[in-house]
Amino acid sequence: MYHYNQEGLQVLHNYILDTNPSKIVVLTDNHTQKLCLPKILPYIPDNFVNINIPPGESYKQIDTLQSIWKQLIVNDADRSTLMLNLGGGVITDIGGFAASTFKRGIDFIHIPTTLLAMVDAAIGGKNGINFLEGKNQIGTINSPELIIINDDFLTTLPQRQIDSGIAEMLKHGLISGKEYWQKMLHYLAHKDTIFSQLIKNSVQIKNKIINEDPYEKGLRKVLNFGHTLGHAIESYLNYVKKSPITHGHAVSLGMILSVYISNKKGFLKFTTVTDINTSIKKHFPLIPFTDKDISHILKLLTFDKKNKNGIPQFILLKDIGSPILDQSVSKEIIIASFKAYNTLSDNGQQK
Ligand SMILES: NC(=O)c1ccc[n+]([C@@H]2O[C@H](COP(=O)([O-])OP(=O)(O)OC[C@H]3O[C@@H](n4cnc5c(N)ncnc54)[C@H](O)[C@@H]3O)[C@@H](O)[C@H]2O)c1
Repeated sequence: MYHYNQEGLQVLHNYILDTNPSKIVVLTDNHTQKLCLPKILPYIPDNFVNINIPPGESYKQIDTLQSIWKQLIVNDADRSTLMLNLGGGVITDIGGFAASTFKRGIDFIHIPTTLLAMVDAAIGGKNGINFLEGKNQIGTINSPELIIINDDFLTTLPQRQIDSGIAEMLKHGLISGKEYWQKMLHYLAHKDTIFSQLIKNSVQIKNKIINEDPYEKGLRKVLNFGHTLGHAIESYLNYVKKSPITHGHAVSLGMILSVYISNKKGFLKFTTVTDINTSIKKHFPLIPFTDKDISHILKLLTFDKKNKNGIPQFILLKDIGSPILDQSVSKEIIIASFKAYNTLSDNGQQK
C-alpha cells in the first residue's frame, strides 16, 4: 500500500494501466498545482481533470467540499473515476472525504506532498472536514488504494511546514520508544541521518498502530498524544486570534502540556518531563498564553471528539514509549500545566 519515491510513482503508473479508470481527477491546491503536479505528469494519462482549491486549513470545510462534489459532477465523474489527492493534509483529508462520499464512494490515491501528510495525515484512512469551531468534526474512516510517498516533493516545502511534520515524528518517538525518539533528536542535532529512512520509520510506527486498531477502539488513540490541547490551541490561534500556527507546531505545544499533565497526575518523573520538554522546545518556539487565552482554549476543549460526558480525555505518558489511554484531566490540572508551560525558562527547566 505504501510506495516510496521514484519507484512509488512507477507503481502509480502501473496501477492506472492495470485498473483503467474511466477518468482521473487530480485534486490540488494552488501551491501543489504549481509545484507538485508537474512532477507526476509523466506517470498519469494526459486527459486527467484537475480540481484545484485554495490552500490552507480554512478551506477544509463544507463550502470547499461542495465545490469539489460539484466539479466531479460537472466533469461527468462516475463510480469508476479515480481521484488522486496531491497535497498536504488538507488535500488528503478533504479529498479522501469527497471521494469516500461521492456516489457512495470512488477509489482514491493519496500522494502526500508535505512532511506532515507523508508521516501522518495520509496514513490511517481518516478523512474529513472542520465544522463550526471544531476540527475534523465530520468525516469517515476509509483507506486509499495506494499511498505514494515521494520525498522529492519536500524540496519546495517551506521550513515551517517541514517543522510541522517533525513534530508528528517526535510524537511517534514519544509514543513508541526511546530508540526512535533518540534517532529523531540525533537527526535534529546533527542532520547527518538519511531523512527518507526516518520518514519510513514514522510511517511504519503509525501503520503498525492502525493495523492493530483501525477504528480507534483502543490502541490507536495513542496517536492523539499532544492533540487534545494541540487541536484546541490550533483552532484558537487560527480562528480566534487570527495568528496562524501550523498543525505540528500546535501539537508540539500540546505535547509539552501533556508531559506536564502526566507529571501532575503522578505518572511521569520530573527529570523525564525536563528532558522531553527541553528537546521539544529547542525546535518549536513557545507561545505564551494569558489567562484569557487559557480560558478560551479550555472552552474549545468541549468540542474534542474524545470527550466523555463533557470531560476531556488525554493520552498521557508513564515514560518515553509508554503511553496511557483515556485519562480524564480536571480543569485545575490543565490550568496548572499552562502555568508550568508559561514559566519554562530557556533551558526547559521551570524558573
Ligand atoms: N487524517 C489524519 O489522520 C490527519 C493526521 C494529521 C493531520 N491531519 C490534517 O492535516 C492538515 C494539515 O496538513 P498539512 O500540514 O500538510 O497542511 P496543508 O495541507 O495546509 O499544507 C501546508 C501548506 O503547504 C503547501 N504545500 C503542500 N505541499 C507543498 C510542497 N511540496 N511544496 C510547497 N508547498 C506545499 C500547501 O499548499 C499549504 O499551503 C490538518 O487539517 C490536520 O487536521 C490529518
